[in-house]
Amino acid sequence: MNVNVAITGRRAVREYAAQAVEEKSLRALIDAAVHAPSAANEQPWTFTVVRDQGVLDRISRKAKSHMLATPQPEHFRAHLIDPDFHIFYHAPALILISASAQGPWIVEDCALAAENLMLAAYAVGLGSCWIGFAQSFLNTPDGKNELDLPAAWVPVAPIIVGYPKAAPYPVSRNEPEIRWVG
Ligand SMILES: Cc1cc2nc3c(=O)[nH]c(=O)nc-3n(C[C@H](O)[C@H](O)[C@H](O)COP(=O)(O)O)c2cc1C
Repeated sequence: MNVNVAITGRRAVREYAAQAVEEKSLRALIDAAVHAPSAANEQPWTFTVVRDQGVLDRISRKAKSHMLATPQPEHFRAHLIDPDFHIFYHAPALILISASAQGPWIVEDCALAAENLMLAAYAVGLGSCWIGFAQSFLNTPDGKNELDLPAAWVPVAPIIVGYPKAAPYPVSRNEPEIRWVG
């Protein structure tokens, strides 16, 4: 697929078919992710693939409670207090990109890997969505414990992956603010 087609066609997918994603497809997404650039070529990313729905259900519940313990915008609260709201939308897989090293650019590095992964997913007919609702909880000792992550790792990008149930609606973009200097 042409890269511009992938960039403009990719959407956050929030409704998934029950169909599992094959291990080889998940490995191909991770291979795309590791081709991202990284500061000083440190490649600090690690990938934790979670397909156990019981674990994802538990993290969803705990992440919602964790977020509700601090003030949240009303539109977030409305979702977080809804017992039926599943932060991972029952997707068949979560790929959590975490940094295994410290450094000034680990978040940028992992975010670039995440975008590669999401574009590669779109190119093979898979849907994806970055789940920011999981981030804060996954960075707690309890969150890391849920996935058996080393304490020093920094979870950055929780990306759900699965086959979309339906084509997501287009999402508009604002006109870019551009300043030309020279
Ligand atoms: C850092 C980040 C965090 C996000 N967190 C969530 C989330 O917790 N739940 C969700 O449904 N979508 C989440 N999204 C998806 C955005 O809402 C989505 O990308 C945005 O609305 C634009 O839509 P598009 O991806 O279809 O272009 C997140 C996206 C990013 C980049």
